[in-house]
Amino acid sequence: MKRVFSGVQPTGNIHLGNYLGALKQFVELQEDHECIYCIVDEHAITVPQNPKELKEHILDVAALYLAIGVDPKKAIVFVQSQVAGHAELGWILNCCANTGELFRMTQFKAKSNGKESVGAGLLTYPVLMAADILLYDTDIVPVGNDQKQHIELTRDLAIRVNNRYKDTFVVPDGRFMKAGARIMALDDPTSKMSKSAENIHSRISLLDEPSKIKKSIMKATTDSDGIIKYDLENKPGVSNLLSIYSVLSGKTIEDLEKEYEGKGYGDFKKDLVVVVTEALAPIKERFEEIRHSKELIEILEDGARRADEIAKKTMKRVRDNFGLGI
Ligand code: TYM
Repeated sequence: MKRVFSGVQPTGNIHLGNYLGALKQFVELQEDHECIYCIVDEHAITVPQNPKELKEHILDVAALYLAIGVDPKKAIVFVQSQVAGHAELGWILNCCANTGELFRMTQFKAKSNGKESVGAGLLTYPVLMAADILLYDTDIVPVGNDQKQHIELTRDLAIRVNNRYKDTFVVPDGRFMKAGARIMALDDPTSKMSKSAENIHSRISLLDEPSKIKKSIMKATTDSDGIIKYDLENKPGVSNLLSIYSVLSGKTIEDLEKEYEGKGYGDFKKDLVVVVTEALAPIKERFEEIRHSKELIEILEDGARRADEIAKKTMKRVRDNFGLGI
């Protein structure tokens, strides 16, 4: 069975982009893969966090994994900082990475843009992500498009180590959704939907109230030609809404274009509000049930134990191959 690994940062409310780009894949893959899903709290501290809020967000993401349908009987669910191998392998891989390739990462450039000085962790962030993946001999990494460059770096590091030392790592592949791999901000369809954007109507969080969902969708930026058609270049707003509609309803984009021929954006948006609200309602309900349960903590503790068993074996091989220790 092929092994799958992925992670989400506990840095705020998980939104439709996270769900449609990555989390939906988590559920699909658990049926016939050995899946490991992590809450990457060590990545979150690359920028300063409020410790109390971070702890809450860790449990929020864990509960959301379960609420969207990740099944702890089929998949390992755990928190990154509970398995020491991540930080250890992160350091070792830092010694194999070149600063040049890290400075070239587009996410680093975006996050450091215009700042005189940023934390070193922001630069080496993708190396820790590579460590997450390589620690579990991962074959497949389900993520959104924005992580493509990080997956490439992970592959480069794995190949570099395998060539320099003995064969040490499995070289993983990214897995991206056809539709949903890059959900754009509702208020500005030229930038991706993100947890940190200031305007809350730029995103729909999985736990948003129906009234907030309605407001965000009805306010979403479209264009002035009034035609419901998928055209990324000329109609990025409408195309983004069509992608969301299509993935959540299971209807193809072509079918939706036919269904809304001759209709206006108002009708289309009203129907999308219903589709999104109905898709998110059961997630919210399940989240409320599990978020403060004892079961959630037990699942995470059990997950960390199981993840650590795999990680320890990899770390022994890594130390041996690198000549570390006695
Ligand atoms: P994070 O926490 O920013 O996002 C979690 C997942 O959601 C995807 N995503 C999107 N997909 C489509 N449209 C969007 N607008 C959108 N925004 C986010 C991301 O691609 C991601 O799959 N570096 C990672 C976390 C990470 C990780 C890992 C992932 C750390 N270690 C190992 C996989 C394997 C990140 O910041 O994701």
